[in-house]
Amino acid sequence: MQENCAIELKNIRKTFGSVVANDEINLKINRGEILCLLGENGSGKTTLMNMLSGIYQPDSGEIFKDGEQVAIRSPRDAYGLGIGMIHQHYHLVDVFTAAQNIILGLENEKMDLGAVNDKVKEICDRYGFNVDPKKKVYDMSVSQKQTIEIVKVLYRGAEILILDEPTAVLTPQETDKLFAVLRNMKKDNKAIVLITHKLAEVLDVSDKVAILRKGKYIGTVNTKEATAQSLTDMMVGRAVTLNIDRPVYANPKDRLEIKGLTVVDNDGINRLTDVSFTARTGEILGVAGIAGSGQRELLESITGLYPVKEGSITFINDDGSRNELVGKTPMQIRQAGVGMGFVPEDRLGMGLVGSMGMTNNMMLRSWRNGKSIFFSKKEPQSLADKVWKELEVVTPSTEFPVRRMSGGNIQKVLVGREIASNPPVLLTAYAVRGLDINTSYTIYNLLTEQKMNGAAVMYVGEELDVLLQLCDRILVLCGGKVSGIVDARTVTKEQIGLLMTSVGGSKGGAE
Ligand SMILES: Nc1ncnc2c1ncn2[C@@H]1O[C@H](COP(=O)(O)OP(=O)(O)O)[C@@H](O)[C@H]1O
Ligand SMILES: [Mg+2]
Repeated sequence: MQENCAIELKNIRKTFGSVVANDEINLKINRGEILCLLGENGSGKTTLMNMLSGIYQPDSGEIFKDGEQVAIRSPRDAYGLGIGMIHQHYHLVDVFTAAQNIILGLENEKMDLGAVNDKVKEICDRYGFNVDPKKKVYDMSVSQKQTIEIVKVLYRGAEILILDEPTAVLTPQETDKLFAVLRNMKKDNKAIVLITHKLAEVLDVSDKVAILRKGKYIGTVNTKEATAQSLTDMMVGRAVTLNIDRPVYANPKDRLEIKGLTVVDNDGINRLTDVSFTARTGEILGVAGIAGSGQRELLESITGLYPVKEGSITFINDDGSRNELVGKTPMQIRQAGVGMGFVPEDRLGMGLVGSMGMTNNMMLRSWRNGKSIFFSKKEPQSLADKVWKELEVVTPSTEFPVRRMSGGNIQKVLVGREIASNPPVLLTAYAVRGLDINTSYTIYNLLTEQKMNGAAVMYVGEELDVLLQLCDRILVLCGGKVSGIVDARTVTKEQIGLLMTSVGGSKGGAE
């Protein structure tokens, strides 16, 4: 294929105080190609792309568009050059419609909404989007909002599109749709830069992969010649083991028995309906489902945080005696001698106290009414040190307020803390969301270690590839109901996908 270079970056350098975010980076972005930009958390991907979208200016270095040197001083300059970026955080006005948001900030649009709708429709037909121009943003799902952001940059004539971790907030089905759109754009000779941590996606959708490591440009490879292993090695800078071991635990016993669990939210809507399953010692039980299928309510009911309308949640002790958990607060559950670790979806809201450092957060577990499981500060200090080293948390000290750490690092602290207390039941929601591949694998290994210590681990996850490799069984939720419980060693991705979208996996959603 003849290369058709749209943008070339030469020796780009960008610093923030003493942090060198981009160190002499060279990069080519071609038309008619999807380029993935890959690198661990903090390697400089967003910063580099923000210099193309006019948010930042480089300290030094040059940018060429179609061979001519350009200066991009503002987002307006970027649009003028046909560069559009879809950021991780959206900039939409909630009370406006899709169409109003799409033309927001354009001076020469005199609000002829009929013409706007026509043009939006034309863009949608061309690339395969599904947009209702009259829908208000507050009625939209995350995926629909993202679509509006993409249409917005296309409306402004973007021919070079940059998407910063768009799939982090999407379900597998939504991701497939987005990729279909990206492929259509590629056919239309647009240049596309996609940032994602998910290697399966990189291998699936990209033509080339450019790798950054600690602010430096490592190289660009053809995706055809790359593997998950080769990309990870380039990203991390040394050989990394990418296997998830799935050892078998010798004597599994029932640990947690859930029967006929039904929970209802404040609006009287069923969030879980008649959910029954058993979690066993020495087992990782995966929980799959599209976002909002009841995963959160399930874990919160077990920990005593979500009121239960009907059903039972029983903890079975080693001697066979049983503790009923329904009706108990988190504190009462712990006082009954039932040990649980919990990595909630909402890290700072429920898991950690932002103003405190790592050590104090090891002591304080706010979701359990703030009671420490430790008697002295020595143990939490050594725990904090352990988490700091093992998970390579980037922080100046174990006393540095966690609120001021980056998202990925906050998460490492929380996951590390919950694992380190060796609980008999370990509940995790999206334990690796937003974490780079290397740290993710460290966490998979730690979960497996807990399993082999006899813990009953529940892993709510979004990457089907990981669920299939890591878990022993997978519970699939669909609309708050158990759609199936399958053996992770034999089930296929397609079977799980089907169970996620219709109870029992029957086509058409019939029950
Ligand atoms: N506005 C900023 N102020 C200070 N430091 C920043 C800023 N933006 C990014 N950084 C730092 O620059 C480095 C690269 O960050 P970023 O480009 O966001 O990485 P990535 O997108 O690869 O995760 C990190 O060390 C980050 O903390
Ligand atoms: Mg980033």
